[in-house]
Amino acid sequence: MADLHIKLKTPHTGEYDQPTGLFINNEWVRGVDGKTFEVVNPSDETIICSVHEATEKDVDIAVSAARKAFNGPWRKVAPNDRGRMLTKLADLFEENVEVLAAVEALDNGKALAMAKGDVAAAAGCLRYYGGWADKIEGKVVDTSHDTFNYTKKEPIGVCGQIIPWNFPLLMWSWKIGPAIAAGNVVLIKTAEQTPLSGLVAATLVAKAGFPPGVINVISGFGKVAGAAISSHMDIDKVAFTGSTVVGRQIMKAAAGSNLKKVTLELGGKSPNIVFEDADIDNAISWVNFGIYFNHGQCCCAGSRVYVQESIYDKFIQKFKERAEKNAVGDPFHGDTFQGPQVSQLQFDRIMSYIEEGKKEGAKVETGGKRIGTKGYFIEPTIFSNVTEDMKIVQEEIFGPVCTISKFKTQEEAISIGNNTTYGLAAAVHTTNLNTAIEVSNELRAGTVWVNTYNTLHWQLPFGGYKESGIGRELGEAALDNYTQVKTVSIRLGGALFG
Ligand code: NAI
Ligand code: MG
Repeated sequence: MADLHIKLKTPHTGEYDQPTGLFINNEWVRGVDGKTFEVVNPSDETIICSVHEATEKDVDIAVSAARKAFNGPWRKVAPNDRGRMLTKLADLFEENVEVLAAVEALDNGKALAMAKGDVAAAAGCLRYYGGWADKIEGKVVDTSHDTFNYTKKEPIGVCGQIIPWNFPLLMWSWKIGPAIAAGNVVLIKTAEQTPLSGLVAATLVAKAGFPPGVINVISGFGKVAGAAISSHMDIDKVAFTGSTVVGRQIMKAAAGSNLKKVTLELGGKSPNIVFEDADIDNAISWVNFGIYFNHGQCCCAGSRVYVQESIYDKFIQKFKERAEKNAVGDPFHGDTFQGPQVSQLQFDRIMSYIEEGKKEGAKVETGGKRIGTKGYFIEPTIFSNVTEDMKIVQEEIFGPVCTISKFKTQEEAISIGNNTTYGLAAAVHTTNLNTAIEVSNELRAGTVWVNTYNTLHWQLPFGGYKESGIGRELGEAALDNYTQVKTVSIRLGGALFG
C-alpha cells in the first residue's frame, strides 16, 4: 500500500512533505479500490511520484462527508466566521508561497516566477471572497399593505468542482472561494495531470479552521471520478473548467441525473486586434504575452492576431523578434518565461496542429518545432498566410501557437473577431477612445481587454459568451452561481377574502 505522505524534493525548496491521499473529512485516506496513478514532470518526462486515485466509491464517501457538514455544523457557522476562515486560508497560501509555487512548477511545468504569481492571485481570490461572506444579502419586497415579503440568498449545497491542469492552484481558489463564501460545501477534483499542488493546499484547509467535510480534495480521472461527480444524485451543483467537449458531457450528465446546477468555463479562440494608431511596442508586448503566457495553455489565450494593413509588415517583423526572445526552458531557471507543455498528449496535439497548419498552406513565420529531446518544450510559433476557414484559425490549439492576418477597416475587424463559435475574451489595441469603446461594444466576448491582455483580476467577472461557457466566475457575479434565492411571503391581513 502506498504511503499517504511522502518526502519529495524540488530544486527550489529542497525536501517537503507531499500528501498523496484523498482529503476527505479533514483526513488523508486511501481510495477504496486501492488504486494509484503516476504523476509526470513535464520538464524531463520522469515520474515524480504516485498519488491515490478516487473512484466512484470515494466520490460517494466524500459527498456523504460534505452533505453531513452542510446539514450539520457548517450551517451554524456565522457568515463572518466563514469569511474569517477564507481569509486565514489566503494568509496560509501566502505564508506557503515558496512550496506551493515550487510544487506547481514541478508538476505543471510553469516557470517558478509565474507559479508565484498564481499563488498570489489564488490568495487574492480567497481573501476577496472572505470579504464577501458576510455581505450576501436579500431584500424586502413590498407588494401590498397586508403582506410582508423578503428574499434570502441561500447556499446551493454540495458543490462538485472539476478543474483543469493549466492553473491548478488558481482554479482551486476560484472554485472554493465563492462557493464557501456563500455557505456551500465543496468536493473538488483536480486534473489527473497535476494533482500535487491541490493536495498541498488541502493541508492548509484544517489549519484555516474549516470543519471536517466542508472542503474535500480528491485526485482522479475525468472519466471515472469526474463522471461520478457530474452524474451524482446528491451533488447540487457542478462547476467545471476544461474542454468544450467535456463541458457538453457534464451538462448531459447533470440533465440525466438530478438536474444539478451547472456552470462551465470552456475553451476559446480569442481575437487580439491591433489598430494602426496603437502604440506598437506596447501592443507587441501584450500580443506576445497574450499568446505565450502559460505556454499558450490559457482558455482566454489571444490566439488569433489581427493587425491593420498599414502597420502589418512592421508589426510582424517586430513581433517575430519579440517571440524569438522569449526564454523557453527549465521552470526553475530564473530567466524562464515559457516552460514545457503539460503532457505528452498536449504536446502531440499541438504538434499535429502545427503540421496541419503547414499542410493547409499557412506560413511558419517563426517556431514550429520541438525544443530538445526531453520534456515537452515547443518553440513560440507564429503562422501567417492564413485564411479564416483553416483549422488553426478556428480550433483551440492550447499551445504557444498563434495566427496573424491583416484587416482593413473597423467593421472588418469586428466581423472577423466575432467569426468563431467561442466568446471568452478579446482585445483591442488602439490609442483612439472611440475605437476602443465601439469595438469593445461589438465583440461578443465575456472579457474585452483594451491595450492589455490576460490581466485577470478576482474582482472582475470572467466567463464565456457563446460556446465558451455558462455563468461567470470571479467578482460579485460568481456569487450568483453559488446561491439560490428563497422568497418568503408573510400574510399579515388574515383570511383570504376575509
Ligand atoms: P478535459 O476537459 O478533458 O479536462 C479538464 C478536467 O475535466 C479534468 O479534471 C478532467 O479529469 C475532467 N474530465 C475529463 N473528462 C470528464 C468527464 N467525462 N466527466 C467529468 N470530468 C471530466 O481537458 P484535457 O483533455 O485535459 O484538455 C483537452 C483540451 O481542452 C485542451 O487542449 C484545451 O483545448 C481544453 N482545455 C481548456 C481549459 C480551460 O481552461 N478552459 C483547461 C484545460 C483544457
Ligand atoms: Mg504533471
